[in-house]
Amino acid sequence: MRILVVGSGGREHALIWKLSKSEIVDKLYAAPGNAGIAGLCKCIDIAVDDLEGLAGFAESNNIDLTVVGPEFPLTLGIVDLFESRGLRIFGPNKAASEIEGSKAFAKEFMKKYHIPTAGFKIFNNYDDAVKFVSENDVPLAIKADGLAGGKGSIICINSEESLQALNNLMIKRVFGTAGSRVVIEDILDGEEITVMAFTDGETIVPMVSAQDHKRIYDGGLGPNTGGMGAFAPTKVANDRMMKAIVEQVLEPAIEGLRQENRMFKGILYAGLMITEIGPKVIEFNCRFGDPETQAVLPLLKNDLAEIFVSILDGELDLEDISWKDESAVCVILASEGYPEKPITGRVIDGVKEARKDNVHIFHSGTVRDSQGRLITSGGRVLGITATHRELHKAINRAYTAIEKISFDGMQYRKDIGHIVSGVKSSFF
Ligand code: AMP
Ligand code: GLY
Repeated sequence: MRILVVGSGGREHALIWKLSKSEIVDKLYAAPGNAGIAGLCKCIDIAVDDLEGLAGFAESNNIDLTVVGPEFPLTLGIVDLFESRGLRIFGPNKAASEIEGSKAFAKEFMKKYHIPTAGFKIFNNYDDAVKFVSENDVPLAIKADGLAGGKGSIICINSEESLQALNNLMIKRVFGTAGSRVVIEDILDGEEITVMAFTDGETIVPMVSAQDHKRIYDGGLGPNTGGMGAFAPTKVANDRMMKAIVEQVLEPAIEGLRQENRMFKGILYAGLMITEIGPKVIEFNCRFGDPETQAVLPLLKNDLAEIFVSILDGELDLEDISWKDESAVCVILASEGYPEKPITGRVIDGVKEARKDNVHIFHSGTVRDSQGRLITSGGRVLGITATHRELHKAINRAYTAIEKISFDGMQYRKDIGHIVSGVKSSFF
């Protein structure tokens, strides 16, 4: 089987690493890929939003299956385009991807299907939104409706901050048209986790739970990032909690999407707050999470290509999928200046030495220069994943390997995996 993976991040490197172990995969391609992915397969210089270019490549290279990493091409309708040309592709179509593409749609959908989430209001009009936040001088989450690269949600502690956020989103349009409509939500309190699930639109198979570390600095301080590290599985998502997540969140979401004629095939990502009274949805994504996938996939025992095929054939089976009885930790190494203004073009040393420590080194923003040296080319640069039966040993293993890697201005959190459950829950 010949597989094309669309994307260029650590998530896609982890997907390609796992697919490269498949018994049914003969050849792998990535578009556009990165320097790490280039060590495993051929990288094709086609951008993730060049849907025609990608479909043309799949046709002329007899690609049997295309796997889409990021949300942007999914929300643009890459799956619809490929299917209209008779090409097999893994991911939800445009209508189903709206669960991530529009926060307003997602919130209305959750309300309609009684999926637990924070109370909210939707505003298309700036003056109405200003009136609402002026009258509600309380902490609020203010979110751009459309895609904003994970940066469109602003937590505001009072009406002054809320007014500032509204001005940035709706007047200054810092995220363009994504901010022409906003969702204003109540603040949820608890522990935040991620549960991703494989689904063929009917059967749902949750993966092991994971926890992302979104803030740039240790202790959850500083600005939000795309994610500075993750570990899996989490303690808070014990069997009882996972059952509640499946019954209260994943099943009604997949069933509801089917009823709305938006049958969802692919990976449904639930970003959850585990509150005193149980799980509440912060957001749904229509794809694998990053960096969560870099921690979760090394724990999967199955052949990933076989799972993708079973989903496309509508034959996904819970009993078939199993996980290692281990923990995984992924620590992200980021560039100086990330997340505001990453400085790139720095030489990366020590990757070969670090690999000897029995860790996975997944690349995000890396390229090779004309001399073959590895160079930083993005905000997030490398993800170092270690696994072990004991979480603290996986943590030690990852950080021991990291000591061997260096580039000017390299920054990373020292507390990945150390989050202690802060939920005083009557649920347990
Ligand atoms: P989102 O883009 O909706 O995933 O939000 C980004 C981040 O903001 C989440 O990962 C949470 O850490 C935080 N967040 C979003 N909505 C809320 C909420 N209603 N209550 C508390 N934290 C939130
Ligand atoms: N780790 C957050 C995301 O993938 O959206």
